[in-house]
Amino acid sequence: METNSEISKSLNKIDSAEEEIRQRTEEYKVLHEVAKALHNTQDLREMLESTLKVLTQFKELEVEYKAGIFLADEEKKTLNLFSTIGKFTDEFLDAEKEIPYGNCLCGRAAVSGEMIISDSCFSDKRHENIFEDMTDHGHYIVPLKSQGKMIGVLFLYTDANPPWYVRSQEILLSIGGLIGDAIVSHKRGEQILENNKQLKELNELKNKFLGIASHDLRNPLYLIRSFSEILKDESAGPVNPKQKELSQKIFNASNFMRSLLENLLDISKIESGKIELSKKVQDLNLLVSQQVELSQLQADKKEMSLDLKLGDLPPMAFDQDAIIQVIGNFIGNAIKFSPLRTKIVIATENQRENIKFSVCDEGPGISEEDQKLLFKEFQTLSAKPTGGEKSTGLGLAITQKIIHLHGGKVGVESQLGEGSTFFFTLPLH
Ligand SMILES: Nc1ncnc2c1ncn2[C@@H]1O[C@H](COP(=O)(O)OP(=O)(O)O)[C@@H](O)[C@H]1O
Ligand SMILES: [Mg+2]
Repeated sequence: METNSEISKSLNKIDSAEEEIRQRTEEYKVLHEVAKALHNTQDLREMLESTLKVLTQFKELEVEYKAGIFLADEEKKTLNLFSTIGKFTDEFLDAEKEIPYGNCLCGRAAVSGEMIISDSCFSDKRHENIFEDMTDHGHYIVPLKSQGKMIGVLFLYTDANPPWYVRSQEILLSIGGLIGDAIVSHKRGEQILENNKQLKELNELKNKFLGIASHDLRNPLYLIRSFSEILKDESAGPVNPKQKELSQKIFNASNFMRSLLENLLDISKIESGKIELSKKVQDLNLLVSQQVELSQLQADKKEMSLDLKLGDLPPMAFDQDAIIQVIGNFIGNAIKFSPLRTKIVIATENQRENIKFSVCDEGPGISEEDQKLLFKEFQTLSAKPTGGEKSTGLGLAITQKIIHLHGGKVGVESQLGEGSTFFFTLPLH
């Protein structure tokens, strides 16, 4: 039989176990609430204020509704008061705006990185900053750290000589870590937004500059081109063979520059949103056949055959000039990058929701790495022109932009050494 004293011992044990469980539950609750507060708000100050509120409601700590957070400036070695809740005098707010590391309780926590518990502002010699009307109080001072780095300091108010909560170290230091991490990730997010904004502005500036530069260069370039044409064709009188050869070179170079400028203008227009599609309902197959016929001349020079496989397409709306540019670039690339005497198949297909246009060649094919870069500006990749043609690396970038403006997709299916199939789709409805 158990004696009375054994029974009461067991009862005590049960009581303290229950108390332990109750405390832990409260701790989990406050951790959960803090984590929630740290995730719920966009604004850093609001986020920290609501976190402070949650903390002051944590019963076990017995703290006042009065608390604040300093953010650390690691370079200047100062703490800057960032957010507070509860009543503070103007004198306090002014004096504590910025305090040096090592000063008073918070400055000390910033240096040591350790939590400080202070019984009374009057008897604790470390509490250096005393204000008028200040009544006796105690403090929990908690360092806010993230991956070992000092991010700031949190201060809570208690009565003087309060019953300190036994597990305050564990719980407050974990909360300090949560807050430190949240501040760091918030600042990172802000930095990313700021960087994005700057990049966007730079990109707009670049487009504007591109637009102006290519526009201003166009007229003088056209003059050079047409005068060299007059010279080489001897329209203004005979020239000797050397002069003829030189003027032919000037003419070729200015032709290349012209297409480069046109491409740059296109890109800047599209990117700055200045291009407006003028869509008309029309027959894509007709357009494709015409473009293939026009390209035949180019293909003949390389003894290539262009095969046409047209699907049954309904009339559909698209911008004629823009789509001609896209089709021309796909066929032009296939001719440009494939070896002599190969076959190119140009096809259209009705896929119900979309129509698909494709150009399949027997060229060198494109590695997976190159495929990732194909549609970006100024990418001239491993495949080089096989007939001395020029290459600017802008055609596919423009192509993609045009097709995206139409709500369609571009893509390529290819393997190194196996030829390539470039395609785009356009939505039918
Ligand atoms: N059909 C193709 N086969 C192999 N490589 C290609 C093909 N089309 C394009 N490429 C590669 O992609 C690059 C970019 O093409 P594009 O943007 O049209 O510019 P460009 O024709 O001026 O070089 C080309 O320089 C070439 O290396
Ligand atoms: Mg091209």
